[in-house]
Amino acid sequence: MKLYTNPASPFARKARIIVFELDLGKVVEEVNVDTRSLGDDFRRINPLGKIPVLALKDGSTILDSPVICEYLDDLGGGKFFPGRSLLRENSGHWKALTLAAIGDGICDAAVARIYETRRPPAQQSEAILAKHLAAITVSLDVLERAKFSKKTTIGEIAVGCAIGYLDFRMPDLAWRETRPNLRDWYEKFAQYPSMKATWPEALT
Ligand code: BEZ
Repeated sequence: MKLYTNPASPFARKARIIVFELDLGKVVEEVNVDTRSLGDDFRRINPLGKIPVLALKDGSTILDSPVICEYLDDLGGGKFFPGRSLLRENSGHWKALTLAAIGDGICDAAVARIYETRRPPAQQSEAILAKHLAAITVSLDVLERAKFSKKTTIGEIAVGCAIGYLDFRMPDLAWRETRPNLRDWYEKFAQYPSMKATWPEALT
């Protein structure tokens, strides 16, 4: 199967971390695509014209990143998605998915903000820039108070990818200065070989 990806994408990075962690490299071929030149032909693979997308051997596709991550996790034996149960208060399932949603939401806001800053200055909206920045900084404040699981879940993976993306694309954010707990957690998390192997890069 093929994972269409981009070395800068924090959404694709979650899937690439799962491929690395669960040793799926023999069955998942990573195909780098340039998101600036995704033409209409790519919509045959993903009608939304976005990466990541996972193309299976039978011609079907899996999207988007939360679903791809769950699919790959299942394929690799199941490690990062705690079992679902509303009866067991501590199943961890909903907490992991909510943490993952915060991580993905930070990335949505960061990507949207970066697109806005790339528009001609006269067309940029201060209100939109401020709205995206608030989503990022208030979410980071929530993460500063969060209790991360010692056993890594999709939640920790998504938050790690979100922070990595902020460091990559918004290096002046200085989020560490007021968030020591998050900083300490991230500095350890970023040392995992799967995090190091998937550090975002610009596609040349
Ligand atoms: C980026 O270059 O920042 C980027 C690339 C793909 C998806 C999201 C962001």
